Amino acid sequence: MIQIKDKQFTPYIENAKIQERIEELAKSINESYVDKDLVFVVVLNGAFMFASDLIKKVTVPSEITFVKVSSYEGGLATTGRVDEIIGLDRSIVGKDVIIVEDIVDTGITIDKMYKLLELNNPSTLKICSLLYKPEAHKGKVKPDMVGFEIPNRFVVGYGLDYDQKGRNYDSIYQLKD
Ligand code: IMP
Ligand code: MG
Repeated sequence: MIQIKDKQFTPYIENAKIQERIEELAKSINESYVDKDLVFVVVLNGAFMFASDLIKKVTVPSEITFVKVSSYEGGLATTGRVDEIIGLDRSIVGKDVIIVEDIVDTGITIDKMYKLLELNNPSTLKICSLLYKPEAHKGKVKPDMVGFEIPNRFVVGYGLDYDQKGRNYDSIYQLKD
């Protein structure tokens, strides 16, 4: 068990199991992306550990870039909230893009990311998420590749945080009730 601030978490998905699943995901990418112009767009911070392990096992030549999605208030009057991608440092026009995410929960974040990347006219755009909470999902796009479907309960570790802490653990822990 681990304790982060006021919360206790119990072991949920151990690293060996994560690695096994990553092998399968990489295999499927290796099969599907032969002769494609593959670019991984890794969503920081949460996906850093998953992306590192996954991409190491990809054998087709590929590019990697790291992004964040930010939300800011428009400067002028009633423009409201504007979303933008920070860190997209190259053109993805005509490329075969895989978005690498840590978790799709309500799906709001990935919907934004997907919409913004789509505007850049990639040839194909897919989502690979380590975790997916189908019960919590109310977004438009679903992840195309999923490591583990999990119940609607908070998890930490392997890149995922609770109040910015706990990303460092090599396994995934679930909030204790
Ligand atoms: P969304 O609800 O799909 O938009 O998820 C938003 C973000 O919340 C994700 O990218 C994660 O950073 C975070 N998040 C959602 N569920 C969890 C969880 O169980 N543990 C840690 N972070 C989470
Ligand atoms: Mg995230």
